[in-house]
Amino acid sequence: MNDGARHAPVLLKPALEALAVRAAGIYVDGTFGRGGHSRALLDRLGASGRLIAFDRDPEAIDSAREISDARLHVEHASFDSIDERLRARGIERVDGILLDLGVSSPQLDTAERGFSFRHDGPLDMRMDTTQGESAGAWLARANERDIREVIRDYGEERYAQSIARAIVAARAQQPITRTRQLAALVASAVRSREPNQDPATRTFQALRIHVNQELARLEIALPKCIDALLPAGRLVVISFHSLEDRIVKHALRDRSVWQTLSKKPITASDAEVEENPRARSAKLRAARRVVMAEMGGEEELDA
Ligand SMILES: C[S@@+](CC[C@H](N)C(=O)[O-])C[C@H]1O[C@@H](n2cnc3c(N)ncnc32)[C@H](O)[C@@H]1O
Repeated sequence: MNDGARHAPVLLKPALEALAVRAAGIYVDGTFGRGGHSRALLDRLGASGRLIAFDRDPEAIDSAREISDARLHVEHASFDSIDERLRARGIERVDGILLDLGVSSPQLDTAERGFSFRHDGPLDMRMDTTQGESAGAWLARANERDIREVIRDYGEERYAQSIARAIVAARAQQPITRTRQLAALVASAVRSREPNQDPATRTFQALRIHVNQELARLEIALPKCIDALLPAGRLVVISFHSLEDRIVKHALRDRSVWQTLSKKPITASDAEVEENPRARSAKLRAARRVVMAEMGGEEELDA
């Protein structure tokens, strides 16, 4: 198994409660990671239940394939292809969909993946290492304005301008290929530091979101999730920063489609955060697709 580290599933209990798992149901885990949520889902499914697990990361997929369970079906794909992947399996609608967004602990902890400024590695940051452009390749060719906009919009970084300028000046001397090299460059361009946060945090988040087109994929996926759910089916999304949460909140706003299961997002208890610091910024939003009677028959037109 090539997952050097483990991933502790975040908000596991509330996620399962919100999914209201039916033993004979069909479920989608859009973000398998290391399968923390998937394993717990399988535990609740009966013999006729099914779980379709997606991940973009080939290492996550390898670990999913190690689970020997005929009820588990594995898709190496982004969750925004949920419609075509379910269709290819002859599945029309499912009972529940879980998206636990962002990166997994093994992705962050493996230096070669290039996600973290805490380890020195190549500036890759691709979740799907079989395709696409690495962060380093993009930084080598993007113009200063695009670099500034990515860092500002996806990192909400107020020093985006100075960081972009520093990157463009530095790469004229020497290519920027390593995580620590970029982190040092960012630190030199940032004038004040936020407490308890490395100065490179926002820039790394921004590049990761850009390289993986994370927000665009989420925006594409959410309406497809609506279409893929049975009436009364559940959608559960765990997000880790305000940009993701805003998209989810917006998608669940339509009361003719969704009944939200709690007005406010569910967050982790102090005990969970103590045990798993990744849970600190997690927000879970859950909704139930409204059924025909609740919609005055519109559901029928839609179906
Ligand atoms: C927070 S981890 C999920 C952890 C998982 N719930 C567990 O308990 O092990 C997020 C995972 O989602 C994957 N991922 C992120 N965006 C994705 C997308 N658009 N499609 C499919 N997988 C995605 C990442 O590769 C990563 O493995």
